[in-house]
Amino acid sequence: MRTAQLTIDPAFSIGPADRRLFGSFVEHMGRCVYGGIYEPGHPTADSRGLRRDVLNLTRELGVSVVRYPGGNFVSGYRWEDGTGPVGNRPRRLDLAWKTIETNAFGLDEFMTWAAEADVEPMMAVNLGTRGVQEALDLLEYANHPGGTELSDLRRKHGAEDPYGVRLWCLGNEMDGPWQVGHKTADEYGRVAAEAARAMKMIDPSISLIACGSSNRRMPTFASWEATVLEHTYEHVDYISAHTYYDPSDGDQASILASAVDMDNFITEVVATADHVAAKQRHKRKLKISFDEWNVWYESRLQADLDRRGWVEAPALIEDDFTAVDAVVVGDLLITLLRHADRVGVAAQAQLANVIAPIRTRNGGPAWRQSIFHPFALTARYARGTVLRTDPVSPRYDTKKYGDVPVLDTVAVHNEETGELTVFAVNRDSTDLSLEIDLRGLPGMSGLSFQSIAAGSDPTATNTEADPDRVTPRDLPTPTPDGGRCAVRLPAVSWSVLRFGPANA
Ligand code: AHR
Repeated sequence: MRTAQLTIDPAFSIGPADRRLFGSFVEHMGRCVYGGIYEPGHPTADSRGLRRDVLNLTRELGVSVVRYPGGNFVSGYRWEDGTGPVGNRPRRLDLAWKTIETNAFGLDEFMTWAAEADVEPMMAVNLGTRGVQEALDLLEYANHPGGTELSDLRRKHGAEDPYGVRLWCLGNEMDGPWQVGHKTADEYGRVAAEAARAMKMIDPSISLIACGSSNRRMPTFASWEATVLEHTYEHVDYISAHTYYDPSDGDQASILASAVDMDNFITEVVATADHVAAKQRHKRKLKISFDEWNVWYESRLQADLDRRGWVEAPALIEDDFTAVDAVVVGDLLITLLRHADRVGVAAQAQLANVIAPIRTRNGGPAWRQSIFHPFALTARYARGTVLRTDPVSPRYDTKKYGDVPVLDTVAVHNEETGELTVFAVNRDSTDLSLEIDLRGLPGMSGLSFQSIAAGSDPTATNTEADPDRVTPRDLPTPTPDGGRCAVRLPAVSWSVLRFGPANA
């Protein structure tokens, strides 16, 4: 068996594990809203049509912030269509997903849902087909207390108090030629800067996110960020990043190393933002909002779209995630935590049905996909200060990312409880012996060791008929001796190891 070593010391601090790293995303796409979080008439739905089974799973997942209403959808969306009496709302063509949008669910319903789910709302404005004025109108409707046409309209619609939305995305993936209203970096930078400046006049307490690249493979990547930030740096608080990893080609060695790519992506966006800061003499460091990330069998999307005409809420990209996908998702979360000093917000895309940890059947049950579990456990235990771990690890070769380490780790120290949690991924197809040196935190004993192991059944998925096939399993809890212990990480696995003060 190969071996790896890890040294944990509270002196190697990266920064606080911000709760906003555990965000998710609800887009008007496929069955994320309709048949996902909202389904009037469903046996668990409340009087407003909110599915209680999905609300419960959302809380269990530990989601902190939810981005809404898109995604590509937002670039053709008129937010006011989704307000007021439902019977008066227009049916529209949604060009992003070739779908008929009924607008039965809109801003006010989302805010009600977010309050019930106990999540912070994160709104995106349309800078595709619309511009500064409509962004201002939406902000006035949402955040202004009252006494103006739009804030009073919100009150008339039943929301007496302002929603107080703090996080606002200035458009979505505006670098992408697929985006309705796609722009060059200069065109987008100008409109984003003007929208940002004016939005902060209405509500200076908001935080704004400029669009970064849709992914690291975009031909304009990095020059897009540089140009956009030249226009916007002084007005915005975050630059966004999006990435999806597609396992469709069956190259397991590479998909397991996806986090290496995400790590490089973050480092490069930070370098680009810091370049603009240096050039423009800004002292404030910009953070990243990694507001779309996941595993996605993306190559199947086009066939889904080509196959049909204009319909309401079609089943779209309802990927069944495997045990290997769960390991990859766990590793992407490790990467986000490792960059907690520069990634301030993150949102897994999406929450329900559409490449999602929660799946539902219309009129039927809701269940947890394999990727639900690493998210829920990380959100639950990554509390406190993120620690740098720098493991010593064997390496292996991948087609996509070259030579990469077999082991990936991060640790989080909760100063209040004294607990230490280590998250670890073994990308190898054999077990790995991990020696952990905890002498920097004297007097620790093991609390638990849970693992999702994909080695023996990599393609296993959770289905309506078998919803718990891929779940975390308890492994023997390690007992540190003289501040050291060794554990066996299963082949192709994501693990969470918890330690706490021995005398607690
Ligand atoms: O999450 C699915 C889509 O992926 C989003 O609408 C878009 O922003 C991204 O390309």
